[in-house]
Amino acid sequence: MGSFEITEPGNTMSKCKKNSSHPWWQTTVIYQIYPRSFKDATGNGIGDLQGVIEKLDYLSDTLGVDAIWLSPFYPSPMADFGYDVADYKDVHVLFGDLDTFDNLIEHAHKRELKIIIDLVPNHSSDQHPWFVESRSSQENPKRDWYVWADPKSDSAPPNNWLSVFGGSAWEWDANSGQYYLHSFLKEQPDLNWRNPDVKDAIFDVVKFWLDRGVDGFRIDVAHFIMKDPQMRDNPPNESSDLFIHKPLGEYDSQLHLYDKGHPDVHQVYRELRTYLDTHNPMRDIVSIGEIHIFELDEWAIYYGGRLDEIHLPFNFTLLKAEWKAADIQRAVEDLEAVLPPGAWPNYVLGNHDESRIASRIGDKQARIAAMLLLTLRGTPTLYYGDELGMKDVTVPVEQQQDPWGIRVPGLGRDPSRTPMQWSNRLHAGFSSPDAERLWLPTAEDYQVANVNSELEDDKSILNLYRRLLAYRRSRQALQIGDYQPLVHVPAECFVYKRTADDEPSILVALNFSRDEQIIDIPELVRSELIISTNMDRSEIVNTINLKLRGHEGVILEFQLQNRAAS
Ligand code: GLC
Repeated sequence: MGSFEITEPGNTMSKCKKNSSHPWWQTTVIYQIYPRSFKDATGNGIGDLQGVIEKLDYLSDTLGVDAIWLSPFYPSPMADFGYDVADYKDVHVLFGDLDTFDNLIEHAHKRELKIIIDLVPNHSSDQHPWFVESRSSQENPKRDWYVWADPKSDSAPPNNWLSVFGGSAWEWDANSGQYYLHSFLKEQPDLNWRNPDVKDAIFDVVKFWLDRGVDGFRIDVAHFIMKDPQMRDNPPNESSDLFIHKPLGEYDSQLHLYDKGHPDVHQVYRELRTYLDTHNPMRDIVSIGEIHIFELDEWAIYYGGRLDEIHLPFNFTLLKAEWKAADIQRAVEDLEAVLPPGAWPNYVLGNHDESRIASRIGDKQARIAAMLLLTLRGTPTLYYGDELGMKDVTVPVEQQQDPWGIRVPGLGRDPSRTPMQWSNRLHAGFSSPDAERLWLPTAEDYQVANVNSELEDDKSILNLYRRLLAYRRSRQALQIGDYQPLVHVPAECFVYKRTADDEPSILVALNFSRDEQIIDIPELVRSELIISTNMDRSEIVNTINLKLRGHEGVILEFQLQNRAAS
């Protein structure tokens, strides 16, 4: 039976008083756009920045998000679809040009939408002029900009490090007689961050985009940039369940002690933070780090001892947790427990590297996931199309694009990168109907699961997202309030309270099961049900015997009757 007994406030229950001085990146909702897949304005079957500009009204008014993170749009041979950058200071012609980018910033800012861009500091493309020079000879001044090493006496690679994408992380360069390191594809050589010129060059890139008006950076594989200076072999991984958040095949055969995450990485992020904070102190530039680390306490170090490193190390724990109430609650509380004082949480349900949430947990629970993401304490990042319930698309072998999937069948990321579904027209309104071919096929369900159709259906998941986003915007309790889980609720439910001064408190009750669940909170008694994930009720409810239908989540507003209970 439920009771309004709250677990002991302490480290795990961070306090955050209503305070209009919270920086924007704490109260914002971020929407990730994979530019190839969002909107094709030119009709060549590949999305572009003009397409993003055309959809800004959708993002800011129809949907109601406040910030966009754009995956890479830089010139690139596209070996890893833009995560192999050949010029850090330009726009790939496929996506537009610098003028298009400037227009995007201008139009976004007019709508008070922030723009966060991807920064890829660990590696460049092998076509980047820096690497072209570096590989030209051992004497070239740029040689030391990348990680080069001699072979072992038997010509074998310098150590046993593996590429995330499969095989050795070392590529032999016959011309200059050494191996170079590539933590990902061989077309993505790792930059040598122990060379101060590399740091200066990347900070200069940061300045270039800050001067064009960007509001922040998502830092690709942020923890990879510093490796063991002695380049020791990684030890074997004896444990079959010790992987980051999903099994990565051969890569999981080692414990990655030496090929990434060397403690020297923190000095780099302290310097970057100082740079961002001082570049234009009025602008609150945000840094978000892609940091997949198994041990949460090690992950939390990236906030910095004095909160002087990365503002938001991406929190991927919801990707790994089993989709059960207790596991999700544990993921949230483990996170709250490990946050350094004052550090701001964030949550992610999916991105361009992961299977889509609706495919992982099904349509019905995808609605629970939406309510969870938008009511937890912390900054949510929403992946394009998840608001429509978009699913992974099985891409026929001959149409597969992702180099990872081509190298290691089963690990391909094409299924979650398919074109955004705007309408029931041919090509889902993503591209002109005249386009001959899209870079990836559209989902089969696009004629029903698309923005236009879902806007017309009051109960669609899109309208649920819109409602949740609008409600979140209207409530300090959700944006910056305290989080407290309730105990003594049915095992299939995750129930928590969000509170801020001078506002009604909010109770979120999520049913992770297909069966009806009954929650009893005698201390509240009468509450107003604001949103049900089924989008079919808003009423005064009695919190004694509160019924949640199978797969239903609700948001209630209440005033406490019994102060002792709060
Ligand atoms: C990050 C990106 C991924 C990319 C990899 C290498 O994990 O999210 O898409 O392939 O880095 O840059």
